[in-house]
Amino acid sequence: MSLLLHLLMLSLLSAGSAKVVDDFEKSCGQFFANGKSPTKFTGDHYKQICQTLDNAVHFATLYDTYNKIPVYSAYVFEGLMGCTRLNSWYIEPQLDDDNNAEENMEFETFVDIGELGENQALNKDYYRSGFDRGHLAPVYHANSQECADATFTPTNAAPQNHSFNRVEWR
Ligand SMILES: *[C@@H]1O[C@H](CO)[C@@H](O)[C@H](O)[C@H]1NC(C)=O
Repeated sequence: MSLLLHLLMLSLLSAGSAKVVDDFEKSCGQFFANGKSPTKFTGDHYKQICQTLDNAVHFATLYDTYNKIPVYSAYVFEGLMGCTRLNSWYIEPQLDDDNNAEENMEFETFVDIGELGENQALNKDYYRSGFDRGHLAPVYHANSQECADATFTPTNAAPQNHSFNRVEWR
């Protein structure tokens, strides 16, 4: 009985530390100057994400689930670390399923959610659109390879002209 209660509490605790959070200043404030986020728009369609991969948080994103683009991503720049591009893209399961206990971003094809894509851009939205997935938190500013990998999510990307993305911006 007490073991069951313990397990229940553990699962409640882990649900409370999910990646889509109520207050990312509290949950992953280390990415903001003085722990303060820039503008936090109000409205249910703005979601605060502590971008988590392999149980480590790498940066923070304010995401607009209506327009399906990020408002901003906040990260700490510690210098160029020579990270490489992943070239696979993750999605955020909790945006399309409030009750999803998975705290990590996952590859789109691994996620089995009926309404997947209701609240976030998927990789197929970019396919043959003529636009690149332009990073907000850039791959080459990441402070570890894992962090660089974590930038590969459409929640951290907006449509960008590919000649700009691959030439001047790069
Ligand atoms: C991207 O920019 C180039 C150069 O300005 C332009 O020719 C092209 O039409 C643009 N592509 C899209 C999809 O807007």
